[in-house]
Amino acid sequence: MTTRILPTDSPELFDIAVREAVNLLSAGEVVALPTETVYGLAADATNADAVAKIFEAKERPSFDPLIVHLPHRNDLGTVAEVPEDVVPVIDKLARQFWPGPLTFVLPKKECVPDIVTAGLPTVAVRVSRDPAFMRVVRALGRPLAAPSANRFGSISPTSASAVKAELDGRIPLILDAGGAHCGVESTIIKVTQEPGKPKPTILILRPGPVTREDLKLHGKVIVASESKDRPDVPGQLPSHYAPRTPLRLIENPEDFTPEPGKRYALLSYRGDPDDGYLELTDWAGIHILSPGKGKLPEAAVRLFFAMRQLDQLGVDEIIAEPVNDFGVGLAIMDRLRRASVKH
Ligand code: TXA
Ligand code: MG
Repeated sequence: MTTRILPTDSPELFDIAVREAVNLLSAGEVVALPTETVYGLAADATNADAVAKIFEAKERPSFDPLIVHLPHRNDLGTVAEVPEDVVPVIDKLARQFWPGPLTFVLPKKECVPDIVTAGLPTVAVRVSRDPAFMRVVRALGRPLAAPSANRFGSISPTSASAVKAELDGRIPLILDAGGAHCGVESTIIKVTQEPGKPKPTILILRPGPVTREDLKLHGKVIVASESKDRPDVPGQLPSHYAPRTPLRLIENPEDFTPEPGKRYALLSYRGDPDDGYLELTDWAGIHILSPGKGKLPEAAVRLFFAMRQLDQLGVDEIIAEPVNDFGVGLAIMDRLRRASVKH
């Protein structure tokens, strides 16, 4: 199969690309679409055969559930059953963050095929704010199941060319809307309300652009990966988002001793000599995520692009500097930790 890339950078091209995407999706095909987080591989969420093509193209195991993207915020009730005790908080969060990079896990409605949720009784839902994505899903008038448009376990794509590198020849169409604005995947949460407690509990299953600090205003926030009882998060495997080159996260520069004869590349946060990483060895390549003072959202936008670039160098190991654990830094550290687990 030939994979076409359609640009969207003039009103005419945008219309043509949207029309083509809607035609393919209506016919039960998959299409790679931009979202504000990363590029997604979309199919009609109500068509199990179409969704099966996502799993096939990505070589994704059937136990890993997909995120369902709604045309509008008010469509939530078409795919999910919001428990009565969390209606007010879900409503507030949806009004504040949708369309945007926040995903809720909620009990699913019958109409969502089991293949979408990997047989779980819950469904993950969000509304994307990418203009091309919004036009496509609204014109289709049905929810779209869309995981990140990479091969399973690999780095999420933040550009059309990265999607092509991952899925060329496996999918018919990629819509190109330039670089993704957030650069890391949506924040996934599960909201519960214990009777008698004043505040709902917001469990962050995957940290993302909507931060712990943003969510604190709405309830008691728990981050699954930091929690003592480590809730089981489907699909969030220890090794994920990984380049082919081994990546090692070095929390302190003193923890790194280069081995003779080996070539290393550095994934640096600020490129600041005071951080102590630049001088550690004769790096074969350096990628700086946010030069200068270091801004976490800028680092998030560049993270997966930088990992792809360093992966091309053919070095023995990529060494990654840590970033601060607050704001979107929590999501960056989560991705770096998973990228650094041996697969
Ligand atoms: O930003 C994003 O969320 C991107 C764009 C394309 O929307 N999508 C994305 O999808 O990152 P994906 O498939 O790469 O990650 C989806 C993850 C699953 O691996 C799983 O961890 C979680 O969402 N998930 C989906 N359904 C779930 C459920 N019912 N319960 C718990 N977690 C669920
Ligand atoms: Mg993914």
